[in-house]
Amino acid sequence: MRTRVGIIGAGPAGLLLSHLLHRQGIDSVVLELRSRDYVEQRQRAGILEHGTAEVLRASGAGERMDRQGLPHEGIELRFDGRSHRIDLTAGTGGRSVMVYAQTEVVKDLIALREQAGGAVLFGAEALSVDGVDTTAPSIRYRHGGAERTLDCDIVVACDGFHGIGRRSVPEGLLTVSERTYPFAWLGILADVPPSCDELVYAHHARGFALHSMRSPRVSRLYLQVDPADSTDNWPDERIWDELDTRFTTDGAWRLGRGPITEKGITPMRSFVAEPMRHGRLFLAGDAAHIVPPTGAKGLNLAVADVTLLARALAHWHIRQDETLLDGYSETALRRVWRAEHFSYTMTSLLHTDPGATDFDRRLQLSHLRYIASSGAASASLAENYAGLPVV
Ligand code: APR
Ligand code: PHB
Repeated sequence: MRTRVGIIGAGPAGLLLSHLLHRQGIDSVVLELRSRDYVEQRQRAGILEHGTAEVLRASGAGERMDRQGLPHEGIELRFDGRSHRIDLTAGTGGRSVMVYAQTEVVKDLIALREQAGGAVLFGAEALSVDGVDTTAPSIRYRHGGAERTLDCDIVVACDGFHGIGRRSVPEGLLTVSERTYPFAWLGILADVPPSCDELVYAHHARGFALHSMRSPRVSRLYLQVDPADSTDNWPDERIWDELDTRFTTDGAWRLGRGPITEKGITPMRSFVAEPMRHGRLFLAGDAAHIVPPTGAKGLNLAVADVTLLARALAHWHIRQDETLLDGYSETALRRVWRAEHFSYTMTSLLHTDPGATDFDRRLQLSHLRYIASSGAASASLAENYAGLPVV
């Protein structure tokens, strides 16, 4: 099989790239290890930056998002038993975010690729990327029990943190920067209307908690836990009791409870591999970088990467001009590092670090109070949260 752009991974990065390339008349094939069902059911993040929603809309992939997504113009920081609203719109000249689950974005993109007759091969495991130093790279993959080769002009690894794309770059050519955190998130999905209109990010001596949502009837909630903890230690009652404690306010606010339909623990890490290119192999999304989820940036970075890359590939395809492709890594990494800093800051601001000294805790509280009381500080948080323009 032969295509212009071989894409590994049908997460948001790979699917959106294939969709954007199709709109420019560029042929691609997406190879995805998992089944369509698995990819469409996998629970992930749910906040789209202003610019991410615009990219989806402009490419014809925003129709259901605009019907079913929940536009949010603020978030709440909760600490010391009090609520503090951060106005996203006032702080950013009118930008806002959209609450719309990543799994829904993935479903919409798969449907669009299907309608256009695009090639997305599920159950296709990429085994190696070869010839990236030549003008004829290829992907060796296994599909339906047989090993095959996909010949390409360009290979894009959108295969997430554990994929093979990044590992196909010859040893020693990537610089890796990373940090792990002494906490993880226990996330639940519950059939109960959200107890708030906007997301609540709570800092408590017992740890961080987040109240998010998926729809007017489904809530998504998170608790900071130890990375070695297991969901076996968290029966439903214990989760609700702990959420109650961490969300406590001096006022009349109450957290509604309902049946928990999903429970999982996710580790937190910061990771950047650079450059995001080697020869004819490009890296995009989680394949190149990971952020802790506190800043809600993972999906948004993946969308920003492939938006840049689709534009660069169109220049190369239509005008035989490689300038934008040559600049891809540097341009993408500028945004990646901004998001790394913001995600690290939000994480350190809101979590309870078991190794913190009293001095650290006093600084943390002072930082929270500064953001809650200063227009300049809250506008800075809002600017990063709602996101800078994509291109
Ligand atoms: N062959 C084929 N597909 C693979 C392989 C392989 N060897 N290895 C991994 N994959 C697939 C995975 O099954 C997954 O569907 O690549 C896809 C990568 O998708 P994501 O992990 O969703 O990554 P990305 O598209 O970059 O999206 C980033 O996802 O993890 C969240 O927080 C992150 O929201 C962000 C978003
Ligand atoms: C989510 O809804 O899953 C979510 C929201 C905000 C975050 C992280 C996750 O910062």
